[in-house]
Amino acid sequence: MAQRGTLGRPPGPRGHWLTGNTRAYEADRIGFLRRCHREYGDVFSYDEQTVFVIDPGLTHDVLTRTGHSFVTELAPFDMRRDLDEATAQATAWMSARRATWPGLNRAASAAADDRTVEILDAVTAGDAGGEVDVLTSMRAFTARAIADYCFGADAPGVPGLLHDLIRATQPFTESSYEFPAWLPLPRHRHFFHASRRLTDALTAIVRRRRAAPAGQTQEDLLGFLLAAEPAMPDDIVTSTLHSVLMGGHGVPAAALTSVVWELARRPGLVGELRDEADGPASGTAAPSTAARLPLAEAVVRETLRLYPPAWLMTRTARTATHLGDWSVGPGDDVLLNAYLIHRDPRWWQRPDEFDPARWLSGRPAPGPACLPFGAGPRVCLGSTLAMRQLTLATSRLAQRFAIESPNASSVALEFMGRLAPAGLRARFAPLGR
Ligand code: HEM
Repeated sequence: MAQRGTLGRPPGPRGHWLTGNTRAYEADRIGFLRRCHREYGDVFSYDEQTVFVIDPGLTHDVLTRTGHSFVTELAPFDMRRDLDEATAQATAWMSARRATWPGLNRAASAAADDRTVEILDAVTAGDAGGEVDVLTSMRAFTARAIADYCFGADAPGVPGLLHDLIRATQPFTESSYEFPAWLPLPRHRHFFHASRRLTDALTAIVRRRRAAPAGQTQEDLLGFLLAAEPAMPDDIVTSTLHSVLMGGHGVPAAALTSVVWELARRPGLVGELRDEADGPASGTAAPSTAARLPLAEAVVRETLRLYPPAWLMTRTARTATHLGDWSVGPGDDVLLNAYLIHRDPRWWQRPDEFDPARWLSGRPAPGPACLPFGAGPRVCLGSTLAMRQLTLATSRLAQRFAIESPNASSVALEFMGRLAPAGLRARFAPLGR
């Protein structure tokens, strides 16, 4: 058997002499990756600097070694290219992340349950039973929900700024091409402008809170952070909340859009969810949504398996290192593909089938082959909150509406920044009861 790293760089398609594999990838991203997976196996090179990994064990290995052998990034700009700068940023972020974690734990997340439902009701009331673009509607919900979670009564204005920033981020997440941040491109200007406006608004909120009379602690994430870490500098508080707002907005909205896609095609399942929502356990103070709303939670888990919004995670090697028996060099990108792992028949029975029951059988999920929230030191910071919000929203939508979609059977998944069915439209028709 080969020793670690002794096989050299993994093989892969050579592609066009000038454009490499970019055109084939852009024409059909997932089709291209499936073909490469079939031809070259679980680890293959895309170009001289990029390697794809579709093996659960190796994926966990890379995610676990983030911070040592690999770096990741929070911003859309490629700070990873400056490996020392990326490492310094990561050290600062990891300490802020540790401080924030308890503010997003199970008890803290559960305290927001009622507000989650109120905000969803307000957003769907605004849709007034008319046909909507589902992703836009779900973003309106998740933006308000995460702004409210962070700032409570100080949240107004934040969802609009978040909306602008996500739109400004889109050109980066949709493109395979990277341009240096200093290039004066319109999309760079838009991004920096939107990011600065959000930062300025958050800074103003943080300063107002600090200036508030003692004893006026707020029951939100900012209140928690200021009480737990009074010495944390304002710019760190602001940038931490910036990351939480960004992480807690676009990705969960993409996941909810996929939930709606499934519900629109499964009126029988919607009926079962409605029965569960109206049933005796729904109003209990059970500590977990799995105890209260097991079917709704299973629908969310199955949706995250079939349509993981963060379908591709990127790491950059800090040093020369190994990927199992293969080797990569410093600066090489390693792309980890949750979507293909979640649909691999080696780990999942009937992998392409939407079957929430697989989460109700009591059998554990095949551990490393299930990573909608990532893994390792940079695992999703908001996974507990996200599971609660998504489960409550799934249950509530089924309880209150008949979900009708004119294009659920014709839309397709878009393998861009965040995986979601592209252009899904739906009407949430209030039930007359
Ligand atoms: C369905 C909902 C969600 C999914 C599927 C999801 C998925 C993920 C994944 C896969 C990562 C890791 C990315 C990587 O390793 O490259 C991540 C990171 C992150 N998520 Fe989530 N997320 C969700 C909701 C949320 C929510 C609600 C919040 C905020 C409360 C949040 C905040 C974050 C943050 C701050 C990070 C960066 C963590 C770090 O780099 O240390 N996410 N998320």
